[in-house]
Amino acid sequence: MSAGGPGQSDRDPADRDPAEVAAERAAGQPTDVWEVLSSARAIRRFSDEPVSDEVIQRCLQAATWAPSGGNFQAWRFVILRSPEVRAVVGKAAAMALDVIEGVYKMRRPEPHENDRKARSDRATYEFHDRGGEFTSVLFATENFPSASDLLLGGSIFPAMQNFLLAARAQGLGACPTSWASYGGEPLLREAVGMPDNWLLAGHVVVGWPRGRHGPVRRRPLSEVVYTDRWGDDVPTYKFKKEQASPGD
Ligand SMILES: Cc1cc2nc3c(=O)[nH]c(=O)nc-3n(C[C@H](O)[C@H](O)[C@H](O)COP(=O)(O)O)c2cc1C
Repeated sequence: MSAGGPGQSDRDPADRDPAEVAAERAAGQPTDVWEVLSSARAIRRFSDEPVSDEVIQRCLQAATWAPSGGNFQAWRFVILRSPEVRAVVGKAAAMALDVIEGVYKMRRPEPHENDRKARSDRATYEFHDRGGEFTSVLFATENFPSASDLLLGGSIFPAMQNFLLAARAQGLGACPTSWASYGGEPLLREAVGMPDNWLLAGHVVVGWPRGRHGPVRRRPLSEVVYTDRWGDDVPTYKFKKEQASPGD
């Protein structure tokens, strides 16, 4: 599979110097925070180019700048690199795909199908089929029995979002997964030796993007924001058009 970069066609992408790939990919990436925020898509199609430790380290550094309750920072991040652990990731991805196929009414598109749903489904199948080939990261948070699940989540998901934004800022593709949620969790926990008193909160796959990806598409603020009182029958503040999702 070619990364499609100029002058790279005769080289195996997997053999490229990771630092060179990172520098090339970082060039021209947005540094403006608004651009980063509005273009951090879930990326599912990756080239075979290697992702260096330095690039992941920057994402993890950003993750640790996130807030957490009481600034406890009771988080751990596990980089999944080895073939053995990746094989477990691949198994968990296949288990998740079995479930989400039904949930999202997905089927493998025929080669000639090219509408938005077919393209999206094709990328999702490729992502899960290749799940064991990618580098990924587990996000864990310590389980404090006094805290609710949502409160515990509130102390790890900001870190995951910081990770995703730092990936975007470097031109690195990333996609959160549910691969630990459909039977994969015990496999992943055992593979990395995660202690029982730690919650496996999230899993993010990273890689260098293949193909083009537009901005995020989201529901407009006018549909999701109330002022002072909950309810669709309450007049909402009229947001300016330019504040809507850039993909609209
Ligand atoms: C908690 C969570 C779990 C997700 N699990 C999966 C998954 O298992 N497989 C997948 O292809 N995408 C998964 N995604 C990616 C979402 O489908 C994606 O973020 C969403 O569709 C928005 O995509 P966009 O940012 O490209 O518009 C997950 C995202 C989140 C936040």
